[in-house]
Amino acid sequence: VEATPEWAAEVKRLARQRNATILAHNYQLPEIQDVADHVGDSLALSRIAAEAPEGTIVFCGVHFMAETAKILSPEKTVLIPDQRAGCSLADSITAEDLRDWKAEHPDAVVVSYVNTTAAVKGLTDICCTSSNAVDVVASIDPDRDVLFLPDQFLGAHVKRETGRENMHIWMGECHVHAGINGDELNDQARAHPDAELFVHPECGCATSALYLAGEGEFPADRVHILSTGGMIDAARAAKSNQVLVATEVGMLHQLRKAAPGIDFQAVNDRAACKYMKMITPAALLRCLEENRDEVHVDPETAAKARNSVQRMIEIGN
Ligand code: 13P
Ligand code: SF4
Repeated sequence: VEATPEWAAEVKRLARQRNATILAHNYQLPEIQDVADHVGDSLALSRIAAEAPEGTIVFCGVHFMAETAKILSPEKTVLIPDQRAGCSLADSITAEDLRDWKAEHPDAVVVSYVNTTAAVKGLTDICCTSSNAVDVVASIDPDRDVLFLPDQFLGAHVKRETGRENMHIWMGECHVHAGINGDELNDQARAHPDAELFVHPECGCATSALYLAGEGEFPADRVHILSTGGMIDAARAAKSNQVLVATEVGMLHQLRKAAPGIDFQAVNDRAACKYMKMITPAALLRCLEENRDEVHVDPETAAKARNSVQRMIEIGN
């Protein structure tokens, strides 16, 4: 199946016919982003899913995102075009691991990144995404310990921003972002002294970019640590005509649309998430034709997880 204008028209017709809205994450293939009703980061899409008047949500993203939509709207039908679209970061902590960790710190507040399974969310006090993680941690009583999971690089970023010492960080990582390394970023930043740098906090290189900014190697105002949605806003406000982007390569599509006059370059053009790319034009068409894959979350788990996700969508609004 090719992403032709006929394909796009058929996708839109089927979605309308069954009263569905199509959501796409910023890392989706360009043709999927272009046919969607809404494109955004994980926080924006969670909010849209919670408020959507349509009875069906077609989530073009990875499984935990569709699961989060189902937790927020159990009465809606949530479909994902390919349920095998997982996430290596969400796989880095199980509910069992979290139970053991909580037993070691019984009084701590648990903050989980939205990139986790529903079962992990059920054991969590507040969820966050990369765009509100700092606000979420800052909202917690400074005397309480925090267990932050599962991403070590986002955790390091939040700890730096909040200056919080009583934060314990799980050592998980996303294989795509961890693979964008500091040397590559530094070489490119030195080779393009006028470019701004947009770095996702899941990147291992976020720390190295900030270190070099702190050492005066790069002016600090060249380096921006941003969620994918934050990158779009920053693109519209950018002063430079070149931006180096350290995140999954799907991001370049919305950035180029938001600011056509700017030259956006990937720091690592091999940084593609194979899970995000499982949502192909053929899979989206089949999803609408055959009603699959439907996302189910066990109602008891969903009820436990709902509070933490609800608090996430309320903070940093
Ligand atoms: P955001 O869109 O919240 O920045 O998340 C990025 C991500 O890795 C999702 O998988
Ligand atoms: Fe998960 Fe990383 Fe893919 Fe995002 S880019 S969905 S964190 S594996």
